[in-house]
Amino acid sequence: MLSPPKPDGIDRERQRGPSVTENATPPRLEIRNLIARYEGRVVVDDVSLTVRAGQVTCLLGPSGCGKSTTLRMIAGVEMQESGEIYVDGKLICDTVFRVPPERREIGLMFQDFALFPHLSVADNVAFGLKGHRDEKRARVEALLRKVDLMRFVDDYPHHLSGGEQQRVALARALAPRPRIMLMDEPFSGLDNRLRDGIRDETLAILKEEDAAVVLVTHEPEEAMRMADEIALMRRGKVVQQGAPYNVFTRPADKAAVAFFSDINVLSSKVNGALAETPFGQFLAPGVPDNTDVEIVFRPQHVRLDFDRNGKGPLPTPTDGVAARGVVERARFLGNESLVEFRMDHDGSILRATVPNVFVPSPGRVMWLTIRRDRCFVFPV
Ligand SMILES: Nc1ncnc2c1ncn2[C@@H]1O[C@H](COP(=O)(O)OP(=O)(O)OP(=O)(O)O)[C@@H](O)[C@H]1O
Ligand SMILES: [Mg+2]
Repeated sequence: MLSPPKPDGIDRERQRGPSVTENATPPRLEIRNLIARYEGRVVVDDVSLTVRAGQVTCLLGPSGCGKSTTLRMIAGVEMQESGEIYVDGKLICDTVFRVPPERREIGLMFQDFALFPHLSVADNVAFGLKGHRDEKRARVEALLRKVDLMRFVDDYPHHLSGGEQQRVALARALAPRPRIMLMDEPFSGLDNRLRDGIRDETLAILKEEDAAVVLVTHEPEEAMRMADEIALMRRGKVVQQGAPYNVFTRPADKAAVAFFSDINVLSSKVNGALAETPFGQFLAPGVPDNTDVEIVFRPQHVRLDFDRNGKGPLPTPTDGVAARGVVERARFLGNESLVEFRMDHDGSILRATVPNVFVPSPGRVMWLTIRRDRCFVFPV
C-alpha cells in the first residue's frame, strides 16, 4: 500500500541560472521554466528539464500536450514566451538573447525524416558536414557501418526499405556530432515488427555518440524501452519526471497510472487514515478523515482464486480480503488473458490479467484479491 507519492523533481527549488555546483560538470542540456503560448493559450506551461550527455529523456504524453512545441523551442525554430535554455552551462536562449538554430549543434530527427531523393545515401549523410573531403568520407563510412548500411553507400533512398531509410536519417542527424539530438516520434512511421529492433539499435548508437537525447513519444512502451528518464506531460505541464521504474511504480496521480496501462478503481472515504472497501482496508496515511479517495490498481495485480463451496481464500495482510465476482467476459491476448468480472458487492466491472491462457466461461464464480503493495490511494 502506498500513500499518494510526491512526484520526483516537481518541487525542485527554482533558481536563476544553470544548475551548476562548483567543480561539477553542467548538464549538456538544461531548460528552465519554458512557457509557450499560441493565440493566447498556454501550450507549454513552465517546463524544466535537464539532460546529461549520453542520456535519453523521453517527453511522453497524449496528443496536443506540448511535446513538439517544447522540442521546437530547444531547436530554436520556435521562440518561448519566457524561460531559458542552456547547453553545457552556457545560456543559448532567453527572451532577449538567442543563438540561431544553425549554431546550436543540435541534430534533428522527425517522423517524416525526408531524405533528399536526388542524393545518394553517402551524400545524404554527408549533407551537413563541413571540412576536408577525406575526413567527411571517413565519418560517413564510419556511421554507415554503425547503422549497418555500408552496402547501400552509393544507392538512392528509394532503393531502401522504410527501416533502412530511418537508419540513414539517423546517420545523417549524427554526422556533424551534435551535442544534442532531438527526436520527434522518429519510429512511428515504421512497421511494428521492425520497430523494436530499430529502437534498440538506435539507442546503442546514440549512447556511443554521447549526445544528450530528447525523444518525443506518445507511446509508454517506447518511453519505457528507450528512456533513462521520462518526463510525463499533460496539458503543457510536466506532471512527473523520473526513471521509468519510478514513474511506473510511483505514479503521481490516477491519470499517470492510466497512461501506462488499464486500471481498476475503487471509491472510498477515509476514516482514521484507513479506507474501507469490499477488499478490506487500505492505508491512507496523512489523508484527513472524510476525504473521498480512489484506490487505483492495474489488472495484473489482481489475484484470482477458485470458489470452494461458496468461500474464497482467507484474508492475509498482503492481499487483504477476497471479494466475489462472476466472469463476464474472458479473452486470450497472446502473452496473457484478460478476464472481466461483474462484482457481487456493487455490480461494477473489474479487470484481471493472467499470464498465458486462462479463459473461464462467463458465469463462473471466482474470488478476487488485490496486492496491497501495488495499489495507489489518491484523494479525489
Ligand atoms: N503553430 C501553431 N499555432 C497554433 N497552435 C499550435 C501551433 N502549434 C501547436 N499548436 C497547439 O499547441 C498544442 C501543443 O501542440 P504540440 O504540437 O506541441 O503537441 P504534441 O504534444 O506534440 O502533440 P502530438 O502528439 O499530437 O504531436 C496543441 O493544442 C496544438 O494545437
Ligand atoms: Mg507532436
